[in-house]
Amino acid sequence: MKAKPSAASGTSRRAALARNPRTQPKQAVKVKTQALPLPEAIVIRVASESDFPAIARLQQQCPDAAQWPLGDYSGCNTFLALLEKTPAGFCAWRQTAPDEAELLNLGVAPAFRRRGVARALLEALRNTASGALFLEVAENNHGAIALYTAAGWTPAGYRPGYYHHGTVNAVVMKKGS
Ligand SMILES: CC(C)(COP(=O)(O)OP(=O)(O)OC[C@H]1O[C@@H](n2cnc3c(N)ncnc32)[C@H](O)[C@@H]1OP(=O)(O)O)[C@@H](O)C(=O)NCCC(=O)NCCS
Repeated sequence: MKAKPSAASGTSRRAALARNPRTQPKQAVKVKTQALPLPEAIVIRVASESDFPAIARLQQQCPDAAQWPLGDYSGCNTFLALLEKTPAGFCAWRQTAPDEAELLNLGVAPAFRRRGVARALLEALRNTASGALFLEVAENNHGAIALYTAAGWTPAGYRPGYYHHGTVNAVVMKKGS
């Protein structure tokens, strides 16, 4: 995901975003799920600060997701997925330009995997964000790459040594134009 685990502190990430001249201030978003063929039991909604403890628990269960300080979720858009009314997954994203958005973090609790939760979160992102979507994923995260590929994302770049103190490369993936 977006931040290097070694640089996952809010300070580093915020500094990186602040350096990006195209980074836009956070704007209120309304999740658009009306076009989603969601299984009945999955609900995707915009997360609020009262959801942060649930997001913290989900994040802890997903070591392959970026481990952010909870306050960092205030600086971006976050969707929470409920499966059978239980927090099951989340994603964080940011509209970086009018025609470009970036998926910053994504995780689904192990107990709820392979039931379409991440697919539903990505659909909500696609239906809510504007323009082309981008993300970074560790090249050895084969499950996540399979998910993104199945959801229509394609490789768009490569960042050598992006994760784990320079030892793991990142693939940049893109969806849409
Ligand atoms: C990757 C992750 C988000 C997938 O979540 P999920 O809710 O299980 O994914 P879905 O059920 O929506 O999967 C949709 C499709 O993606 C593909 N897919 C998802 N996980 C996969 C895996 N581990 N291996 C192979 N294909 C996978 C499949 O095509 C799947 O459809 P299918 O189950 O009908 O075969 C989850 O495994 C996770 O949280 N991993 C740890 C955190 C992480 O890696 N985050 C991404 C960082 S970039």
